[in-house]
Amino acid sequence: MPIFVIEHLEDKVWPWCIIEYKNISKTVGKNNLWFTNIPKNSIYKLKAYGIVFTKSIKSMNLEKSCVMDPEAEKVLSPRDKKSFNYLIFGGILGDYPPKKRTKEELTRFLRNSSCRNIGKKQMSTDNAVYVANAIINGKSLDKIKFQDKLDIKINNIESIILPYRYALIKNKPFISNELISFLKKKKSF
Ligand SMILES: C[S@@+](CC[C@H](N)C(=O)[O-])C[C@H]1O[C@@H](n2cnc3c(N)ncnc32)[C@H](O)[C@@H]1O
Repeated sequence: MPIFVIEHLEDKVWPWCIIEYKNISKTVGKNNLWFTNIPKNSIYKLKAYGIVFTKSIKSMNLEKSCVMDPEAEKVLSPRDKKSFNYLIFGGILGDYPPKKRTKEELTRFLRNSSCRNIGKKQMSTDNAVYVANAIINGKSLDKIKFQDKLDIKINNIESIILPYRYALIKNKPFISNELISFLKKKKSF
């Protein structure tokens, strides 16, 4: 099993990031998860969910590593399990339309790494990890079901639209209940 690395690329470790990172830890297990580029004063926020580094992945020069980037040419396949010891993801919140931040802020700097996509559509980091983990464990991308765009109802009138791609598990989009509660609370202020 490769190590899943989340290179944090937001200016702060926002509550939304913590909720997603916690969900990633649930998916792959805290012993298989690294958080890199974490500001010193935020280490305590993530210690319970994985191994935390203040260093950036860009200065680690890891061997057999692969950046997960929607702009990559090749698709991640179950055969890649043997090729990579590290799968690297951008700790980047979704933006719409996508600004290609993974390519600009991560892939471009990791010249010794390979890169792969899991389709061209943008997923949240926790969804991307869920899908990559499923692929590494033998399920090819074309066997995974998705829903594009998620509509979260706040009340009878309002809803929040998340314009991203979500993996479907038993026909339900992969999103944590904690994130749904957080978004509802945020919207009601
Ligand atoms: C919310 S996405 C960031 C997307 C950002 N807007 C961009 O354009 O790169 C967070 C991370 O999930 C991973 N990811 C999301 N969708 C992906 C895809 N279709 N293929 C590969 N990686 C993906 C990437 O590692 C990405 O940095």
